Amino acid sequence: MQISHIEHVGIAVTSLEEAIPFYENLLGFKCFAIEEVEDQHVKTAFFQVGQTKIELLEATSPESAIAKFIEKNGGRGGIQHIAFAVEDGVANALAEVQEKGGRVVDKEPRRGAEGLNIAFLHPKTTCGALVELCENPNK
Ligand code: CO
Repeated sequence: MQISHIEHVGIAVTSLEEAIPFYENLLGFKCFAIEEVEDQHVKTAFFQVGQTKIELLEATSPESAIAKFIEKNGGRGGIQHIAFAVEDGVANALAEVQEKGGRVVDKEPRRGAEGLNIAFLHPKTTCGALVELCENPNK
């Protein structure tokens, strides 16, 4: 697989309403999109930082992975995942990871925020850091 850059860093927050002003007022970023991803039970907010984005994630349901992350983290938010942009297809990358004995959360790419094709690798395979692979299908 060919990874070109860090597409985004996913940060779990307890409240987008509280977190967005921190990034805008203290760091001077501009939130360019807020989007709900229903099948993930999250609401996301995006900021561009060079070629990388910051993705803030707020849970919309207790069954969300973000709600579970915050619960495990003592009720606080924090860095939840890192997403790499793959240039030669997420499906391809998933096949390669599994061929090499790695474990995946998603067996098939699915639709994430911003219309990207995404898939998560299993934290057991990635030394504890949750890794997302993504590609822009319209590129
Ligand atoms: Co993400």
